[in-house]
This record gives sequence, C-alpha cells and structure tokens, in this order.
Amino acid sequence: MKKQAPFVIANWKLNGGIDLTCTSVASMLNRKFEARIGIAPPYVYIGDMVSFLRNSDIMVGSQNVSKFASGAFTGETSAQMLSEVGCQFCLIGHSERRQVFLENDNSCHTKMEKALDNNLIPVLCVGENLQQYELGLTNDILYRQLHQSLPDLNLEGKELCIAYEPVWAIGTGKAATADQVQKVHSFIYQELVEILGTERANKVHILYGGSVNKDNVEELLSTPHVDGVLVGGASLDPEHFAEICALANKSAQ
Ligand code: 13P
Repeated sequence: MKKQAPFVIANWKLNGGIDLTCTSVASMLNRKFEARIGIAPPYVYIGDMVSFLRNSDIMVGSQNVSKFASGAFTGETSAQMLSEVGCQFCLIGHSERRQVFLENDNSCHTKMEKALDNNLIPVLCVGENLQQYELGLTNDILYRQLHQSLPDLNLEGKELCIAYEPVWAIGTGKAATADQVQKVHSFIYQELVEILGTERANKVHILYGGSVNKDNVEELLSTPHVDGVLVGGASLDPEHFAEICALANKSAQ
C-alpha cells in the first residue's frame, strides 16, 4: 500500500531567533514539497514565520498550548490565539514539558480538547525515559499516556498526530533503530484501534522523533506505521532540515 505524504515537523525548542527564522524560511521557499512540512519556532517568532510563509504549503505550529481558554493565567497562550495568528498545529506533552514543567496526561487531555476545538492539529508526544526503557516498561508507559490523553475527544473531521519520542533518543545522537520504532509504532496503532476504533485509528499519523537526521530519515520513513518525523537539533540548520524534507519528499513519491 502506498504511504500517505509524510509529516516532517521541526521543533526548535528554545533556540533560534529572527535570523534563523529568516534563513530557514529562505531555504524552504521556492521548493516544492510533497511531504507535509511544519515548523514550530518559539512563540514570539510565529507571527513573522506565518507571514513569511503565507504563499507556501509549509505549516507553522507551536511547541505548546495552554490548557486554559482565557483569564488570569500569566504567561499562557491559548489555542484560539494560536489559531488566530495562523498556527496549524501544536505540540502537546513533549517530554521536556512533562519533565521540566511537570505536565501530565490530564493536562495533555485538556490541551488536546482545546487544540481540536480551535482547528489546530494536535501532535501528542509520548515516550518512555531511559530507566523505563531499560526496565522493559515502554508499552506500559505508552499505554498509560495514550489511554489517559485520547478518550472522549471530538475527532469528527479532525486530524491528529501521535509522536513517539523515546526520551533516551532525544538530543543524544542515538536514534531508535527502525526495528525498535516499528515494534513500538505497531503497539501504538493497536492501542489507537482500541481507543478510537479502526476507522479513526487508520487516519492518525504516527510520527517518530529522537535524533532524526538526513542519514536516518529515509529508513525511518520507509518503516511500517511511521507516518512522519519530528526533528529537533537537525532542524536548526536550515540546509540540513531542507535536506531532510527533500528526502521525505522522495519517500512520498
Ligand atoms: P532531537 O532531534 O534533537 O533529538 O530532538 C527531538 C525532539 O525532541 C523533537 O521534538
């Protein structure tokens, strides 16, 4: 079966600035992509990036979203605001948010609702840490994260991504192998079928993230149940990221 056009999403984390915003836009414009490319810069550059990319198919997204709609919540940004400035997707529950900012599956569920209500494609990040991996708890962790974040969502006519990001592979240069990714993504798919039913589960895009680069992206994207990639460090080099996107393009043809 021919795969759908893969997602390639850049997560800049707390990196970059106006210079990177301009150079990465410059290296992406005037190229035709079959893959669905997205960039999630820090909040303050979203508006500029949206206007620079107005005439392209490249999506702009956020790295987080508030679980609140409005009110006295200093420092928060709502899903409605993100949608209003032109975001098309938002990351939810990235492991750094879970570890450093103590986000949990409950807040992820609320954020998923807010994102979907405001026409943002939620990219729910899940994955085990090194200790859990070594103890063989990967499936247990994923089971909990998926079963607590996904039930009772109104997915009618909506898109949804799940990004499997093993914490031990993030920023370490040690990506999971295609074999490991295939096993975990099959497990995720199976749980999606249980939670959402087969028809909806078949429409969910399951992405992999963790040390993705131009040398491993093709193999990862040719792996069953891998519908895209989430790229951190390698997305901060505009040429490297453009190369990853070009390779993803090839896999979409
Ligand atoms: P790296 O690609 O730097 O490992 O980061 C992955 C990630 O956390 C993307 O969200």
